[in-house]
Amino acid sequence: MWRKTLAGLPEVTEHPGVSCRSMRDGDASAWDTIVSEAFGWPEPSGHFEAHMRHDPSFAPERVYFVLRDGLPVATASAWCKPDKFGVDVGYLHFVAVRPGHTNRGLGTLASLVALHAMAADGRTSVVLLTDDHRQAAISIYLKLGFSPLVTHESHRDRWRDVFGKLPDPSLVQKFADDLDADV
Ligand SMILES: CC(C)(COP(=O)(O)OP(=O)(O)OC[C@H]1O[C@@H](n2cnc3c(N)ncnc32)[C@H](O)[C@@H]1OP(=O)(O)O)[C@@H](O)C(=O)NCCC(=O)NCCS
Repeated sequence: MWRKTLAGLPEVTEHPGVSCRSMRDGDASAWDTIVSEAFGWPEPSGHFEAHMRHDPSFAPERVYFVLRDGLPVATASAWCKPDKFGVDVGYLHFVAVRPGHTNRGLGTLASLVALHAMAADGRTSVVLLTDDHRQAAISIYLKLGFSPLVTHESHRDRWRDVFGKLPDPSLVQKFADDLDADV
Protein backbone atom coordinates (compact mmCIF):
# COMPACT_ATOMS: atom_id res chain seq x y z
CA MET A 1 0.00 0.00 0.00
CA TRP A 2 1.08 3.60 -0.32
CA ARG A 3 0.13 7.06 0.75
CA LYS A 4 0.99 9.23 -2.19
CA THR A 5 1.75 12.22 0.01
CA LEU A 6 2.62 12.69 3.65
CA ALA A 7 0.93 16.10 3.53
CA GLY A 8 -2.43 16.39 5.25
CA LEU A 9 -1.88 13.75 7.93
CA PRO A 10 -4.52 13.77 10.68
CA GLU A 11 -3.41 15.36 13.94
CA VAL A 12 -2.37 13.05 16.77
CA THR A 13 -5.17 13.15 19.35
CA GLU A 14 -4.94 12.62 23.10
CA HIS A 15 -6.10 9.27 24.53
CA PRO A 16 -6.66 9.10 28.32
CA GLY A 17 -3.85 7.16 30.04
CA VAL A 18 -1.93 6.86 26.78
CA SER A 19 1.38 8.45 25.79
CA CYS A 20 3.78 8.09 22.86
CA ARG A 21 7.52 8.34 22.63
CA SER A 22 10.48 7.15 20.59
CA MET A 23 12.85 4.41 21.65
CA ARG A 24 15.11 4.69 24.70
CA ASP A 25 17.95 2.48 25.94
CA GLY A 26 16.52 -0.76 27.29
CA ASP A 27 13.38 -0.73 25.12
CA ALA A 28 14.43 -3.63 22.85
CA SER A 29 12.82 -6.21 25.13
CA ALA A 30 9.54 -4.26 25.17
CA TRP A 31 9.59 -4.23 21.36
CA ASP A 32 10.28 -7.99 21.35
CA THR A 33 7.34 -8.62 23.67
CA ILE A 34 4.90 -6.51 21.65
CA VAL A 35 5.96 -7.89 18.28
CA SER A 36 6.28 -11.56 19.28
CA GLU A 37 2.84 -11.51 20.94
CA ALA A 38 1.20 -9.57 18.10
CA PHE A 39 2.61 -11.73 15.31
CA GLY A 40 2.38 -14.95 17.31
CA TRP A 41 6.08 -15.69 17.14
CA PRO A 42 6.98 -18.45 19.60
CA GLU A 43 10.41 -17.07 20.49
CA PRO A 44 9.90 -14.08 22.85
CA SER A 45 13.29 -12.41 22.42
CA GLY A 46 16.01 -11.46 19.97
CA HIS A 47 13.71 -9.98 17.31
CA PHE A 48 14.74 -6.36 17.75
CA GLU A 49 18.38 -7.28 17.26
CA ALA A 50 17.58 -9.44 14.23
CA HIS A 51 15.08 -7.18 12.42
CA MET A 52 15.79 -3.63 13.52
CA ARG A 53 19.07 -2.73 15.19
CA HIS A 54 21.30 -4.07 12.44
CA ASP A 55 19.27 -2.50 9.64
CA PRO A 56 21.11 0.52 8.17
CA SER A 57 17.88 2.54 8.62
CA PHE A 58 17.84 2.02 12.36
CA ALA A 59 17.85 5.09 14.57
CA PRO A 60 16.15 5.19 17.99
CA GLU A 61 14.10 8.20 16.90
CA ARG A 62 12.54 6.09 14.12
CA VAL A 63 11.07 3.49 16.52
CA TYR A 64 7.89 4.56 18.34
CA PHE A 65 6.05 3.14 21.30
CA VAL A 66 2.56 3.77 22.59
CA LEU A 67 2.38 3.37 26.36
CA ARG A 68 -0.79 2.62 28.27
CA ASP A 69 -0.59 3.46 31.94
CA GLY A 70 3.18 3.72 31.46
CA LEU A 71 3.59 0.26 29.86
CA PRO A 72 4.70 -0.03 26.20
CA VAL A 73 1.88 -1.89 24.43
CA ALA A 74 2.11 -0.83 20.78
CA THR A 75 4.82 0.07 18.31
CA ALA A 76 5.38 1.32 14.77
CA SER A 77 8.53 2.48 13.05
CA ALA A 78 9.21 5.36 10.70
CA TRP A 79 11.57 3.40 8.50
CA CYS A 80 13.03 3.97 5.05
CA LYS A 81 14.49 1.72 2.38
CA PRO A 82 16.37 4.18 0.17
CA ASP A 83 17.92 1.48 -2.04
CA LYS A 84 14.49 0.09 -2.86
CA PHE A 85 12.11 3.06 -2.76
CA GLY A 86 14.34 6.16 -2.88
CA VAL A 87 15.25 8.70 -0.21
CA ASP A 88 11.95 10.61 -0.36
CA VAL A 89 9.79 7.60 0.49
CA GLY A 90 9.13 6.48 4.05
CA TYR A 91 8.36 2.89 4.97
CA LEU A 92 5.88 2.12 7.75
CA HIS A 93 7.48 -0.80 9.56
CA PHE A 94 6.40 -3.32 12.19
CA VAL A 95 3.04 -2.00 13.35
CA ALA A 96 2.05 -4.15 16.32
CA VAL A 97 -0.15 -4.04 19.41
CA ARG A 98 -0.11 -6.49 22.30
CA PRO A 99 -3.23 -8.68 21.97
CA GLY A 100 -4.77 -7.54 25.26
CA HIS A 101 -4.69 -3.91 24.11
CA THR A 102 -6.17 -4.08 20.60
CA ASN A 103 -9.29 -2.32 19.30
CA ARG A 104 -8.68 0.82 21.34
CA GLY A 105 -7.14 2.87 18.55
CA LEU A 106 -3.55 2.22 19.65
CA GLY A 107 -2.44 0.62 16.38
CA THR A 108 -3.79 3.66 14.54
CA LEU A 109 -2.07 5.98 17.00
CA ALA A 110 1.32 4.23 16.71
CA SER A 111 1.07 4.29 12.90
CA LEU A 112 0.10 7.95 12.85
CA VAL A 113 2.97 8.96 15.15
CA ALA A 114 5.40 7.10 12.87
CA LEU A 115 3.93 8.82 9.79
CA HIS A 116 4.39 12.26 11.39
CA ALA A 117 7.98 11.32 12.22
CA MET A 118 8.62 10.38 8.60
CA ALA A 119 7.23 13.70 7.43
CA ALA A 120 9.45 15.50 9.95
CA ASP A 121 12.38 13.43 8.61
CA GLY A 122 11.76 14.89 5.14
CA ARG A 123 9.90 12.00 3.45
CA THR A 124 7.18 13.06 1.06
CA SER A 125 5.29 9.78 0.59
CA VAL A 126 5.14 6.39 2.30
CA VAL A 127 4.77 2.73 1.40
CA LEU A 128 4.19 -0.40 3.45
CA LEU A 129 3.93 -4.14 2.97
CA THR A 130 1.16 -6.19 4.52
CA ASP A 131 -0.61 -9.52 4.05
CA ASP A 132 -4.04 -10.28 2.64
CA HIS A 133 -5.35 -11.68 5.93
CA ARG A 134 -4.41 -8.66 8.08
CA GLN A 135 -7.86 -7.07 8.00
CA ALA A 136 -7.43 -4.95 11.14
CA ALA A 137 -4.11 -3.58 9.89
CA ILE A 138 -5.53 -2.87 6.43
CA SER A 139 -8.46 -1.06 8.09
CA ILE A 140 -5.97 1.18 9.90
CA TYR A 141 -4.01 1.93 6.75
CA LEU A 142 -7.13 2.77 4.73
CA LYS A 143 -8.33 5.03 7.55
CA LEU A 144 -4.95 6.81 7.50
CA GLY A 145 -5.16 7.53 3.78
CA PHE A 146 -3.25 4.62 2.25
CA SER A 147 -4.40 3.10 -1.06
CA PRO A 148 -3.69 -0.24 -2.68
CA LEU A 149 -0.50 -0.23 -4.74
CA VAL A 150 -0.85 -2.76 -7.54
CA THR A 151 2.62 -4.01 -8.50
CA HIS A 152 1.64 -7.48 -9.78
CA GLU A 153 -1.26 -8.78 -11.86
CA SER A 154 -2.39 -10.99 -8.95
CA HIS A 155 -2.93 -7.96 -6.70
CA ARG A 156 -6.17 -6.83 -8.37
CA ASP A 157 -8.14 -9.96 -7.50
CA ARG A 158 -6.45 -10.24 -4.12
CA TRP A 159 -7.51 -6.68 -3.28
CA ARG A 160 -11.07 -7.38 -4.39
CA ASP A 161 -11.09 -10.38 -2.02
CA VAL A 162 -9.63 -8.27 0.80
CA PHE A 163 -12.23 -5.54 0.29
CA GLY A 164 -14.98 -8.16 0.19
CA LYS A 165 -14.07 -9.16 3.74
CA LEU A 166 -14.06 -5.62 5.13
CA PRO A 167 -17.26 -4.05 6.45
CA ASP A 168 -17.41 -1.16 3.93
CA PRO A 169 -18.88 -2.49 0.66
CA SER A 170 -17.98 0.72 -1.20
CA LEU A 171 -14.20 0.14 -1.02
CA VAL A 172 -13.97 -1.71 -4.36
CA GLN A 173 -15.60 1.27 -6.06
CA LYS A 174 -13.60 3.81 -4.08
CA PHE A 175 -10.29 2.26 -5.15
CA ALA A 176 -11.36 1.15 -8.64
CA ASP A 177 -8.78 3.42 -10.33
CA ASP A 178 -5.99 2.08 -8.13
CA LEU A 179 -6.94 -1.51 -8.95
CA ASP A 180 -7.09 -0.70 -12.68
CA ALA A 181 -3.68 1.03 -12.71
CA ASP A 182 -0.98 -0.45 -14.93
CA VAL A 183 1.41 -2.80 -13.20
C1 LIG B 1 -3.27 -4.83 13.33
C2 LIG B 1 -3.08 -4.28 14.74
C3 LIG B 1 -1.83 -3.44 14.76
C4 LIG B 1 -4.31 -3.41 15.06
O1 LIG B 1 -4.12 -2.81 16.32
P1 LIG B 1 -5.34 -2.11 17.08
O2 LIG B 1 -4.79 -1.38 18.21
O3 LIG B 1 -6.41 -3.09 17.31
O4 LIG B 1 -5.80 -1.08 15.96
P2 LIG B 1 -6.91 0.06 16.10
O5 LIG B 1 -7.75 -0.20 17.30
O6 LIG B 1 -6.21 1.36 15.99
O7 LIG B 1 -7.73 -0.10 14.75
C5 LIG B 1 -8.15 -1.37 14.34
C6 LIG B 1 -9.20 -1.20 13.29
O8 LIG B 1 -9.39 -2.47 12.68
C7 LIG B 1 -10.76 -2.78 12.73
N1 LIG B 1 -10.83 -4.22 12.77
C8 LIG B 1 -10.51 -5.04 13.78
N2 LIG B 1 -10.68 -6.31 13.39
C9 LIG B 1 -11.12 -6.27 12.12
C10 LIG B 1 -11.47 -7.25 11.17
N3 LIG B 1 -11.41 -8.55 11.46
N4 LIG B 1 -11.87 -6.85 9.96
C11 LIG B 1 -11.93 -5.54 9.65
N5 LIG B 1 -11.60 -4.56 10.49
C12 LIG B 1 -11.20 -4.93 11.72
C13 LIG B 1 -11.28 -2.11 13.96
O9 LIG B 1 -12.67 -1.93 13.90
C14 LIG B 1 -10.53 -0.78 13.89
O10 LIG B 1 -11.11 0.09 12.94
P3 LIG B 1 -11.99 1.36 13.45
O11 LIG B 1 -11.09 2.19 14.30
O12 LIG B 1 -12.36 2.04 12.19
O13 LIG B 1 -13.12 0.77 14.20
C15 LIG B 1 -3.00 -5.41 15.80
O14 LIG B 1 -4.17 -6.20 15.73
C16 LIG B 1 -1.81 -6.30 15.60
O15 LIG B 1 -0.77 -6.06 16.17
N6 LIG B 1 -1.98 -7.35 14.77
C17 LIG B 1 -0.91 -8.33 14.54
C18 LIG B 1 0.28 -7.74 13.83
C19 LIG B 1 -0.08 -7.12 12.49
O16 LIG B 1 -0.90 -7.64 11.73
N7 LIG B 1 0.58 -5.99 12.20
C20 LIG B 1 0.41 -5.29 10.94
C21 LIG B 1 1.41 -5.81 9.97
S1 LIG B 1 1.22 -5.06 8.37
